[in-house]
Amino acid sequence: MQYNIAVIKGDGIGPEIVTEAMKAMEVVGEKFGHTFNFTECYAGGNAIDKYGIPLPQETLDVCKASDSVLLGAVGGPKWDSVPSDKRPERALLGLRSNLELFVNLRPAQMHAALADACPIKPEIIGDGFDILVCRELTGDVYFGKRGRRESELGETGWDDMNYSVTEVERIGRRAFDMAMKRNKKLTSVDKANVLETSRVWRETMHKLREEYPEVEYQDMYVDNAAMQLVRNPGQFDVITTGNLFGDILSDEASMITGSIGMLPSASIGKTKLGMYEPIHGSAPDIAGKGIANPIATILSCAMMLRYSFGLGEEADCIEAAVEKALNDGHRTADIAKEGEKVLSTSEMGAIICENIKG
Ligand code: NAD
Ligand code: IPM
Ligand code: MN
Repeated sequence: MQYNIAVIKGDGIGPEIVTEAMKAMEVVGEKFGHTFNFTECYAGGNAIDKYGIPLPQETLDVCKASDSVLLGAVGGPKWDSVPSDKRPERALLGLRSNLELFVNLRPAQMHAALADACPIKPEIIGDGFDILVCRELTGDVYFGKRGRRESELGETGWDDMNYSVTEVERIGRRAFDMAMKRNKKLTSVDKANVLETSRVWRETMHKLREEYPEVEYQDMYVDNAAMQLVRNPGQFDVITTGNLFGDILSDEASMITGSIGMLPSASIGKTKLGMYEPIHGSAPDIAGKGIANPIATILSCAMMLRYSFGLGEEADCIEAAVEKALNDGHRTADIAKEGEKVLSTSEMGAIICENIKG
């Protein structure tokens, strides 16, 4: 089969990690007899430099016409002072909303070989954890109106936070469906003791819960959830939450796997078209050094194969190749112990490609 993939390498470490992910896809294609046609396009800071805007129409058109989108990361200090509506991050939000990608899956699994990289004591981690954060991606305070006004306290910024029943229903249903395919446990995270958006969220989840009697459901306040993630991560199966809380909790969940360089993501909606990206950013502090961990991006390709193309065996093959690299003791700087041999981005990518070949 032929698959058309729009590739947005982005800024900072984006090009370094996406290059390795594309190589992994090529090798999977050769092994299983698929052709992946990559069309590179610009979004983020690099698009600002080239076209003066973060998300050119051409990029959006290419993405819409493709079978899926692979993205590295956008943003960086170079563009931190551009007007807010022209920031590189706007490109990401524009892609997510224009492609109607309202579900963001962020799996955080403990790899036994990385126990040393996990900052939590082994007795707390126990048998490990396997969490799927199911984050709402096209609503919340991210997409409300915002601005500045004069108040009695002087200049004041404001951001409008909204959640409609419709928006909660569609993410909630996906979260319950995911829980049904996994360990049938769902934690819905909100701040219903304070926020009206969260009260709509919780009421809607409670209605949905009646349709999924087999799922063990619980509500949890976001502050408690942040604490429980480091107190006892093994208690969670699927976590669903809004856009902002999901952003923060998934970075926290990533660190207990050893590094933010490990966590992939799938952004999906109603159609097969999805966008696949690591959860981390452009890591300006290490950009250009060839030391970034490419695993999150490579695992995002596995999610693309599984969720957009329905290629489960191919996805499993990438995940097994990553697992083998870790089990064989291969480490990039972010997951290495002191004194351990450290691989570059491309060395780690090459080892994973060899493992895919088998
Ligand atoms: P970041 O995720 O880029 O970096 C946080 C820390 O994690 C840094 O120390 C970085 O070196 C490290 N890190 C991240 N990815 C790594 C990897 N693959 N391997 C090893 N170490 C890694 O977050 P930040 O510094 O807050 O943001 C930098 C820029 O990226 C900002 O402009 C931000 O808006 C943007 N950003 C973009 C995305 C995205 O494109 N999806 C996501 C988050 C942040
Ligand atoms: C992420 C990022 C983005 C978000 C930013 C860059 C807009 O942090 O993908 O997690 O907040 O969603
Ligand atoms: Mn984030």
